Amino acid sequence: MKKPFAIGIFCFFFSIASAFSLEMTVFGDHDRNETAKRIANLAASLEPDVHLLVGDWHYSSSEKKAKKWWDEVYAPLRQSGSILLFALGNHEALPSFQFNMDLVGMTQSWYAMRLSEHDEEDETKSNDVYLIVLDSNLYSCPKQLSFLKAALAESRKARWQVVAFHHPPFSSGEGHGSNLKVRSKWSPLFDEYGVDLVLTGHDHIYERTHPVCSDGSLNTRCPIYIVTGGGGRSLYPVTKEQPYWSRSRFKEHHFMKLTFLEDKIEVDAIKQDGSILDSFDGYD
Ligand SMILES: [Fe+2]
Repeated sequence: MKKPFAIGIFCFFFSIASAFSLEMTVFGDHDRNETAKRIANLAASLEPDVHLLVGDWHYSSSEKKAKKWWDEVYAPLRQSGSILLFALGNHEALPSFQFNMDLVGMTQSWYAMRLSEHDEEDETKSNDVYLIVLDSNLYSCPKQLSFLKAALAESRKARWQVVAFHHPPFSSGEGHGSNLKVRSKWSPLFDEYGVDLVLTGHDHIYERTHPVCSDGSLNTRCPIYIVTGGGGRSLYPVTKEQPYWSRSRFKEHHFMKLTFLEDKIEVDAIKQDGSILDSFDGYD
């Protein structure tokens, strides 16, 4: 049973009872096709605590087509009973920004929340994730940067620190590649505050990095970056030489399932037939 515990303008706190783990599906770059429907149905069938969409939902500025996505592709996620969260992609930016915000019921394009669950048998045990969702269309906005610094400082109190947005600081996808502007603006802060995972989309591939710092050095103190842009839209190639910071990458439709436990995060990338594309639970 999920219920809002307290809600503020930028910061939300949800208390999630029962199972002593917190599960989240994450995916982006969906479109309105049959693949997107299959993936959304599969993600919904897992009944996680949270569904998080990392941008580029329906690829249309037409309200009619957007509603078709909402009614046909996204319906199983809405009906799953999970908490539904969104990051804005470039296709949700102007001119259809306000329409898209209204469509999914968003009032802020950047926000943070603490997702917390407790062991019912031992109240002293808890497990929480501080999730920061950003609008990478506005990566240089000073107001958002101030918010990010404050949220990252707060996130240090939680067991796990996770940041999600659309444009990937690290990607070897041949649709877009690494967004160096976002990397130079935000990644040094992720290093400084000890962020565990950075979840993005935009390149229509799956890719995860080794723990990598903003200067490109590999270090377990820095985040693992994931590109999960295989939600349904046509895929991009990954044929060029794999960068040293890239641990695993595939041109494949998929979604992510994250399970936050006390001592580790179990991460699976799951294909549309339900098979596992990639899986890890540590810094391998
Ligand atoms: Fe995009």
